[in-house]
Amino acid sequence: MWIPWALAAAMMAAPQSAEKQPPLSQADASKLKNPVPFTKKSVAQGRTIYLRYCTACHGADGKATVDVVADATDLTSPKLWRHGSTDGEIFRSTRDGAGDSMPAFKTQIPQQENLWHLVNYVRSLWPESMRPPLAEAGPSSGKSK
Ligand code: HEC
Repeated sequence: MWIPWALAAAMMAAPQSAEKQPPLSQADASKLKNPVPFTKKSVAQGRTIYLRYCTACHGADGKATVDVVADATDLTSPKLWRHGSTDGEIFRSTRDGAGDSMPAFKTQIPQQENLWHLVNYVRSLWPESMRPPLAEAGPSSGKSK
């Protein structure tokens, strides 16, 4: 039996889990803000996750030149994408899946933060002129010049 306060407590205990979230509409996704700054460290973390889950279809370089699953998107050319290329939309495509053959990763990658690292990695594959500028290491790095 569900006890509402227990449910609420469980939700508060796991605010980072993507697994239980309902799928986002594209409109809602496009409004999401990436809470993880675009830093080298985040891109590196995203790369590790990418190499584990995404290369089979999109290729190590993101260009999907590998002859595997039909028509994976070339992740290096956001202009050609069909499901949007804002941070929130990339988050949605990865978490909830896209089209008929892009699987949802919310079960394999339940940590929201890791999904955002992936978003940052995917953006790092774009042509330099389209990439966001690299952010400083982070607010807590505290290096004063
Ligand atoms: C089983 C093969 C497969 C795997 C694994 C896979 N993808 Fe995809 N991906 C696809 C296909 C196919 C599409 C094209 C979907 C469509 O538009 O019909 C796609 C589309 C996308 C899109 C949307 C591009 C657009 O057109 O807007 C993004 C972003 C994306 N993938 C990122 C990822 C990331 C990040 C991972 C790893 C977590 C990943 N994919 C793993 C097959 C895959």
